[in-house]
Amino acid sequence: MSSYITDKAYINGVWCPTATTFEVTNPFSGEVIGKAANCDEALTKTAIEAASKAFVAWKGLTARERAVIFSKWTDLILSEKQALGELITLENGKPLAQSIGEIAYAASFVEWCLEEGRRTYGITVPSPHPSKRMMTIKQPIGVVSMITPWNFPAAMATRKACAALAAGCTVVLKPSEEAPFSALALARLGQQAGIPPGVFNVIPTSRANVAQVGTVLCTHPLVAAVSFTGSTDTGKIILKHAASTVKKVALELGGLAPLLVFDSCDLQKAVQGVMASKFRYSGQTCVCSNRILVQSGIHDKFVAALKDAMEKELVLGDGMKPTTTIGPLINEAGLRKVSDQVKDAIDNGATLVTGGQAVGRNMFEPTLITSVKTSMKCFNEETFGPLAPIYKFDTEEEALSIANNTDTGLASYLFSGDVSQCWRIAEKLETGIVGINEGLFSVPEAPFGGFKESGLGREGSTCALDEFMEIKYMCWGI
Ligand code: SIN
Repeated sequence: MSSYITDKAYINGVWCPTATTFEVTNPFSGEVIGKAANCDEALTKTAIEAASKAFVAWKGLTARERAVIFSKWTDLILSEKQALGELITLENGKPLAQSIGEIAYAASFVEWCLEEGRRTYGITVPSPHPSKRMMTIKQPIGVVSMITPWNFPAAMATRKACAALAAGCTVVLKPSEEAPFSALALARLGQQAGIPPGVFNVIPTSRANVAQVGTVLCTHPLVAAVSFTGSTDTGKIILKHAASTVKKVALELGGLAPLLVFDSCDLQKAVQGVMASKFRYSGQTCVCSNRILVQSGIHDKFVAALKDAMEKELVLGDGMKPTTTIGPLINEAGLRKVSDQVKDAIDNGATLVTGGQAVGRNMFEPTLITSVKTSMKCFNEETFGPLAPIYKFDTEEEALSIANNTDTGLASYLFSGDVSQCWRIAEKLETGIVGINEGLFSVPEAPFGGFKESGLGREGSTCALDEFMEIKYMCWGI
């Protein structure tokens, strides 16, 4: 299997056994890949207390001292790219090339944050009073609780944790019960790189314990901030819990990303944009295009070219096989959701162009449907699966109004050869991220986060550390 699989939690620099464990299965084969530590309320409190004690010394280090550790951590992660990639594929079924890509992506957040840690500047404020001088400094907020998802079990751990750690905070991270081992593997490498005990704690927990552990993470008085990636419904619960002690909250939640294809677009670019944004990790990312709107003049050509690309480029199977480009869904519930959306669309008059079937354990064929209506489930529920539903539109106004008619606003995409139209539409789309003639945009240098119910705050970019820092204003009488 993998030498990174462990049935221990990582708390205060110690690999701790737990009273019970839970099984983690490979979503492709159904095989148990290992047993994971099952932390409970008491261990969560222990981890938070350890993080609180460790905060005193960690915040006292200079950013440069922390950067030296982070730099070693980056090198260790990259040197283990193959093994860590295989671990992701075992945990969540992602095709191995994409898993190895995720490890590089994860390491890029460590590297970015170590550099940003040295740039947490305050400002000097022009004083309105002759006898006063004014300035600000930024200070780490304290212990941060983190709850990370299964779809990017390594990259979401580093994107969150490294921003907090580089800011001088300490972290207690609960990975998803579907894919807990990647975060533990990162903790092991962090330990080797010299992260002191208590600074970065990882506490896996079973689904049965999630509610109690999550409640402690979001309400414990020693926790100053909570950072979560996952569904909008869970985000709202976290926000309510965190309100009791007014914690700072960063939320990266769901979306219903519209992708707009205009008559003037470069057809191949648009097709490749859909291929990348729709089918990356079987459609299981928060920024996957969910609602594809195609203008009537190019509609038929676009559908034919997309069908062709899907049938040529998407090979469904075991993520460990080098030929596989699209793997299983994470679990049966994920499969049911896609099947249900396809059935709802077909029952209500959509046309099946390719795919449409569940094929084996957690696997759904890459599916293209046309004649989609805005009332269908696939236009109103996040799919998290390989379904590309096409809605035909006539005018820019119609497309924009459909695109913005949602409670969420994480990402959107538009493909057009008309520069004025690109500007016009990009400015009007109500999302935190817009891909313009581009289907892939995630990098540590740029801000990741959404409008409306897609979340609060931004990950990555020059804003990343601000989520975990307080601004202190100092007013000097002279
Ligand atoms: C996510 O799905 O939460 C992250 C996707 C990305 O970083 O591109």
